[in-house]
Amino acid sequence: MSDNLQIPFNFDGKAIPDRHFSPDGYKGFAGFHKYWGKKPIEVWRFLIENLTLPDDIVLDPFLGSGLIAKECVNRNCRFIGFDVNPISIELTKLYLCPPDYTDLGKAIYGIERAVKSRINSMYQLSDGNIASHLLWDDEQITRVWTKRGRKREELNLTRLELENFQGAEEYQPKWVRELRLFDNTRINSQKTFTINQLFTSRALRAIDIIKEEIEQHSGSLKRALHLILSASAGQMSNMVFAVSNRGKTKGIETDKIEVGSWVVGYWCPAQHFEINAWNCYATKANKLLKAVEEDRYSKTSAIPVSLEEFQNKEEAVCVQQGDSEQFLKFIPTESIKVILTDPPHGDRIPYLELSEMWNSIIGLDSNYQEELVVSNAKERGKDIPTYNRKITSIFHQCARVLKKDGFLAILFNARTDCHWQCLSNLETTTELVYLGCYPSVYSAGSVLQDNRKGGLKTDYVLLYGKQINEKNRAKTVAAFSNVKGWTTRYPKESD
Ligand SMILES: C[S@@+](CC[C@H](N)C(=O)[O-])C[C@H]1O[C@@H](n2cnc3c(N)ncnc32)[C@H](O)[C@@H]1O
Repeated sequence: MSDNLQIPFNFDGKAIPDRHFSPDGYKGFAGFHKYWGKKPIEVWRFLIENLTLPDDIVLDPFLGSGLIAKECVNRNCRFIGFDVNPISIELTKLYLCPPDYTDLGKAIYGIERAVKSRINSMYQLSDGNIASHLLWDDEQITRVWTKRGRKREELNLTRLELENFQGAEEYQPKWVRELRLFDNTRINSQKTFTINQLFTSRALRAIDIIKEEIEQHSGSLKRALHLILSASAGQMSNMVFAVSNRGKTKGIETDKIEVGSWVVGYWCPAQHFEINAWNCYATKANKLLKAVEEDRYSKTSAIPVSLEEFQNKEEAVCVQQGDSEQFLKFIPTESIKVILTDPPHGDRIPYLELSEMWNSIIGLDSNYQEELVVSNAKERGKDIPTYNRKITSIFHQCARVLKKDGFLAILFNARTDCHWQCLSNLETTTELVYLGCYPSVYSAGSVLQDNRKGGLKTDYVLLYGKQINEKNRAKTVAAFSNVKGWTTRYPKESD
């Protein structure tokens, strides 16, 4: 092992600009699709810039929204990533290998021509106005708006029109598979939940109409059009809450009602908005189109391959759906330079359960058994000991595949001490050396913080080196001491 670490440490001896630690929201691809637990790319960019050199292999066994993959490829690193969540794989592939801007524009325009008027006819009143928002209250529509430019205008409906809009007949979608959920009070889900509870029949018909058109496409275009649909599904659903009486706080009561959004879990409030499904699709389509346009000049568009092809043909990027615990077994010992990862934080977010609506709409299947998580859904058997065993096994594999002098950075938070212990135990059970940690501070609202009892106020980036000698350890620690909040203790000891 050499004393000279082959890493750039661009920040050695310099103060780190704050933008690395308080990024201002999600833009471009990062802002297109909601993903549970998505972290701002700046957090990873800082580590990629400072810990990797071109052609290094970077691994992320918990891809999530896939932004690390994109960043690594843009920086000429080779990359391997896994995730059990099928929508995570679709998002990663979209960002790594987006469709051509002009082709995507044409495909969206084609869909608009084929479906917009059909969908809008379901929201049309006898005077020709097209409803943009319907306000539901205890299964009754109480108010209806249309859009005039950027403004909303309230419409007066006859009783007959209201009855028609409330239409009793339940629509059974042809293109959306049924939900597979569990009894989980934390996310308001029940085993018996059906897709009809989350959407009105009108919205489900609209989703079916759009899906039928998407089926005409293939490859990266089909993927993009599907992801536009899943990205817009939350706003098409009955989970969009209404924000009323805002003026109250200033002492003035108004009847102004603002449109909220789908936040988290499967809660359908008694008072909620139903938003015109075509408008939801069009909004997300424009967002993706803009992101693809901005990305046109990014360095790389890499086609992700299987692990086998990555290894045999020296391809640039491997992305696979499935359990990291299994895939890691096929990665050769000491072949990875840097591992950057953000595993599920204990019971913070049940990813597959929360993504089930998206996966069912796109027609993707989840393997719940493989997930690393602590879930309140007892039936799943995802308890704390099972989680601890699996995360330990995954990080033992990570330690094995890491090169000597390689780095492992884990972004973590947990409410339970034993989860933190799994990470601190790595020092005694593997060749990893704990170097220190720093808080990962996000801008307001960019990441849903876990404010429940026991959790730390911020997430932490924990840094380990493999078989790092004293000289190199000291060099790394000295460089990282420029990072705000850096400490060589464990997070629980320093918070
Ligand atoms: C905290 S999220 C990653 C978020 C990501 N850093 C981002 O910014 O979007 C953790 C991810 O681990 C995935 N996951 C859970 N169990 C897994 C397993 N056994 N193998 C691979 N991925 C898994 C979840 O589906 C989820 O996407």
